Amino acid sequence: MTSNANQYTWAGRFSEPVSDLVKRYTASVDFDQRMWRQDIRGSLAHARMLARQGIISAQDLADIERGMAQVAEEIESGQLEWSIDLEDVHLNIEKRLTALVGDAGKRLHTGRSRNDQVATDIRLYLRDAIDDIQVLLKAFRSALIDLAEKEAATPMPGFTHLQVAQPVTFGHHVLAYFEMFGRDAERFADARKRVNRLPLGAAALAGTTYPIDREYVADQLGFEAVCENSLDAVSDRDFAIEFTAACALLMMHISRLSEELVMWMSPRVGFIQIADRFCTGSSIMPQKKNPDVPELARGKTGRVYGQLISLLTLMKSQPLAYNKDNQEDKEPLFDAVDTVTDTLRIFADMAGGITVRADNMQAALTQGFATATDLADYLVKKGLPFRDAHEAVGHAVKAAEFKGVDLPGLTLEEFRQFSPLIDDDVYTVLTVEGSLASRKHIGGTAPEQVRAAIARARNRL
Ligand code: ARG
Repeated sequence: MTSNANQYTWAGRFSEPVSDLVKRYTASVDFDQRMWRQDIRGSLAHARMLARQGIISAQDLADIERGMAQVAEEIESGQLEWSIDLEDVHLNIEKRLTALVGDAGKRLHTGRSRNDQVATDIRLYLRDAIDDIQVLLKAFRSALIDLAEKEAATPMPGFTHLQVAQPVTFGHHVLAYFEMFGRDAERFADARKRVNRLPLGAAALAGTTYPIDREYVADQLGFEAVCENSLDAVSDRDFAIEFTAACALLMMHISRLSEELVMWMSPRVGFIQIADRFCTGSSIMPQKKNPDVPELARGKTGRVYGQLISLLTLMKSQPLAYNKDNQEDKEPLFDAVDTVTDTLRIFADMAGGITVRADNMQAALTQGFATATDLADYLVKKGLPFRDAHEAVGHAVKAAEFKGVDLPGLTLEEFRQFSPLIDDDVYTVLTVEGSLASRKHIGGTAPEQVRAAIARARNRL
């Protein structure tokens, strides 16, 4: 980072330079330089429009295009020295361009302001980020399907209140997350529509006096439409808030999965193993293998919630139009992008590294009277009203608990004390396989339904 006194673009109006502290306080180049590709893309589209409209000459455009190609090369190779004297990514690039091509570089900013420029850059950046996230989400969801398919018929206890409730298959459980992340993908796709509008042309806030062609610029940059109102175009960051809200929801889902992975991996539960490359050991306890990745993901969820609150608070009560507050939008936004992107990349890989301990799941299933509801349904099918069946089974569970067995451990004689409707056929109903197979409607946990859901899921992906 270099620093030369009064190099400011706006030096004409000022009689003294700002202090180093103020310079550092007001500069954004340290963090907004990551938008350099979008900034150059936006500038080139703007320059082409200016030339097309006869606002700058064809020669100017040629100079700008040639200069920008070199600036891009210099940035790519790490040669360009970013300067906080030039405040942000926009002025750094413009200054370098001008050093390379002279007056044409100084004409680039005709009919434009950094206010509409930065709003355009963020939207381009976010659009790229959303497209990346969609690719990662797809890979992750595809890995979830593969895992679900492998374990489509593997019984595990389903829980409510973290108490054994009813048998489900592990594949069915995994598909629940497939659905959650599917809605997340929809949310990003929906947010993208509102990101994908062009602010350029709004200039500082009121539009510009040049005969610009905004539709042409929008077209060049792949924007679906132009922002209709110049004041709104430069000032609102609702699209960034919406994106971060989608990130927060996604991370909420990630945190739920993480919590389960951590729990399942606990030796007290022992339902799964996560591949070693996602775990770390302890510096003191040699026996430990800790699920660090899901724990960190659970922790990073709070971080993304924080970025959402930052952005909401940043925007709250801001008068129209642009205010410098908005420069503070970038760090939360970039952090949300980075966190979500890294998390999804890791989770897509980690999902493929999960191995199931079916024996432990099976053992857990024999400990919580998981087929009690099946017994009640059995009695209902024999004519007992559901509430009476519920009560009869409650007594049976109490007796089994007293005897120290699961429901199939009761003799037929013992069963009949609770209802004379119970026959020998009750024992098939009480098996985990029978319980699973009987939930055979769409959305149910029967292995055949899980396989059908997997086929549909693959189609939707
Ligand atoms: N770095 C600024 C930002 O991030 C660019 C816009 C500055 N505009 C201004 N009028 N100071 O928002």
